[in-house]
Amino acid sequence: MSPFSARTGFARTWNALALALASRRARGLPVMDLTETNPTRVELPLPAPAPLAHPDALRYAPESLGLLSAREAVAAFLGTRGASLRPEHLVLSASTSEAYGWLFKLLCEPGDNVLVPAPSYPLFEYLARLEGVETRTYRLPRAHGFGLDVDAVDAARDARTRAVLVVNPGNPTGHYLHEGELEALSTLCARAGLALVSDEVFSDFAWGEEPGRVGSVAGRELPMPTFSLSGLSKVAGLPGLKLAWMHVGGPEAARDEALARLELVADTYLPVNTPVQLSLPEWLAHAPRFQGAVLARVKENRRRLLEARPAGAPWDVVPAQGGWSAVLRIPLEPGEEATCLALLEEGVSVQPGYFYDFRGGAFLVLSLLTHPDVFAAALGPLARVLAAGG
Ligand SMILES: Cc1ncc(COP(=O)(O)O)c(C=O)c1O
Repeated sequence: MSPFSARTGFARTWNALALALASRRARGLPVMDLTETNPTRVELPLPAPAPLAHPDALRYAPESLGLLSAREAVAAFLGTRGASLRPEHLVLSASTSEAYGWLFKLLCEPGDNVLVPAPSYPLFEYLARLEGVETRTYRLPRAHGFGLDVDAVDAARDARTRAVLVVNPGNPTGHYLHEGELEALSTLCARAGLALVSDEVFSDFAWGEEPGRVGSVAGRELPMPTFSLSGLSKVAGLPGLKLAWMHVGGPEAARDEALARLELVADTYLPVNTPVQLSLPEWLAHAPRFQGAVLARVKENRRRLLEARPAGAPWDVVPAQGGWSAVLRIPLEPGEEATCLALLEEGVSVQPGYFYDFRGGAFLVLSLLTHPDVFAAALGPLARVLAAGG
């Protein structure tokens, strides 16, 4: 019998694509990497690290939900986005991934489930399973531009469903939640006794104006317990600083009970380091410069991608409204993996749609964060391989 828990027994085999990429790198061949989403590796503006040397950085006086001064800084920052939030309703953690773990502990008994969107960011299954929680998928229909279909959410739940996760805007689909969708979702959550967990790490990265878009659920009067998540990883491009926040909202009694319980969970770990909390105003002050540079890059890379598509090509760029990625719809034959392998032969690395659980077609995912020189150089081979059908 294995001495280890079943929930940590994840498959660790390498897929054909990972093997081909490793082999190419081992042979010293160049790779134009259109999968890079690490903002610190693609020549985007970084702040000087000086604020970490705060005079009180080594004095230890922890507060379970995060230092009040740091939560005030987050509330002020979110205030500039139009939400009037109280610092007491914010909880700091080391990452949004950690916040998910806390929320699953808060909301679920082992064996309960949460509803997760598909296609989407693939980490939810891991985060849930590690807490003994199951995931059930609701599909984001392509016909809705990969937007939310509340009937699909309703159909996915069962008696053990505790919460609905939404990613706003979707990663990698780049579709924002809209007012009508939020209203229908709120009605469903209230009727079925579900909490709403809204992942808003990309919400500052809208490419243009759009009527009816929901930027954040924080600060709205919603009828169910509501948790909105974001953090420095995406907002300021500083994933290594390890600071994220969640806003807790919803009906007052449930909100206060959630905060009291989360305080206990957070106090059990106290994971957020003091230097980053003390210097949080400085990191948040860097956000506009970082976001400006990201938006300029992402929009320019996307413009070039659209321009590189010849009229009548058998592939298309899927419409989207924000985020850091582009999704391409490609022919079913030869399909995702064969196309990725053919592109790799030409030195271009992209992700297949199945990494994100796309269905109903074949898709590729490209990071628009890629350095513009690399992105531009990859477009020729990309258009050639896609025109040749992989
Ligand atoms: C949708 C989404 N949520 C959360 C995260 C993780 O952020 P953090 O570094 O705060 O855990 C990512 C990272 O890629 C993401 O894409």
